[in-house]
Amino acid sequence: MNKTDLTSEEIRERYNAQAEVYQTRYKGLKGDYYRRFEDRIFLDFLDVAGKRVLDLGTGRGRLALALAATAREVVGVDLSDEMIRHATEAAVGSANVQFEVGDAAKLRFEDQSFDCVSSVGMFPYVRNVQPFFAEIRRVLTDAGTFAFSIANAGEWKVTARAEIAAREAFARLRGRGLPHIDLDDTPLIPHHVRDLASELSDAGFELVDYRSTFFYIPSRLFYAAGRRGLARVQMIAAAANDALGKFVGTRQHGKVVVLHARKAPTR
Ligand SMILES: C[S@@+](CC[C@H](N)C(=O)[O-])C[C@H]1O[C@@H](n2cnc3c(N)ncnc32)[C@H](O)[C@@H]1O
Repeated sequence: MNKTDLTSEEIRERYNAQAEVYQTRYKGLKGDYYRRFEDRIFLDFLDVAGKRVLDLGTGRGRLALALAATAREVVGVDLSDEMIRHATEAAVGSANVQFEVGDAAKLRFEDQSFDCVSSVGMFPYVRNVQPFFAEIRRVLTDAGTFAFSIANAGEWKVTARAEIAAREAFARLRGRGLPHIDLDDTPLIPHHVRDLASELSDAGFELVDYRSTFFYIPSRLFYAAGRRGLARVQMIAAAANDALGKFVGTRQHGKVVVLHARKAPTR
């Protein structure tokens, strides 16, 4: 990636600007996609029943609210005050969920105060994972576990190329030109599972498991299909892709990988 990484302030501005429309991701079949595929993996990995859970980069709190159905308490933290404002509104009536603005690399919580930590979609903004892993390890109890998703470096560019090709084909069909899209002009930072396994180990964690999702589906095409009333087709394609990914036995060939780690017993 040649691009300068986004600063915390730029991330905050980006998500403050998106906070209003971000809700559409959670609605209808598009929301179903996240709940059935990406969030499902977190719910499978983390046994949160009766536990205190921290959700980092919580956004509008979709996963935090899902976890709160069984957890004792869930705290969601995000850099974006607008995302947190919406999450707080969504949590009205859920007494065991709180949201607050904060930086996941500088948590205000006490040592060993959470049983589980989750994070969907935040690590694609993080190049140096160590300050984040250190904070997560500090706030987790000794038996604590941690699940987080990454943009999968192994597949990211393949999928991005397919996505651009599809968009160009659509633009041609509509007789319109498409501005040049630079593959490196994305603020996201993909990671390799193998690199994170060693980063986790350096930070005092063990990688327990990992699973991928979002197999070879160009996401813009996927979202565009939803907007054009093809949402059901989109869901069937997503399910078929997911099943294919599992069938061919690739745990790490999807566009998104969710890793599950626990504190290593000794350092
Ligand atoms: C792709 S969104 C995911 C939001 C939500 N987890 C979801 O699944 O819809 C990434 C979120 O991470 C947040 N974020 C990025 N860096 C962060 C940091 N250092 N501390 C806290 N939140 C951060 C962003 O503000 C944004 O809301």
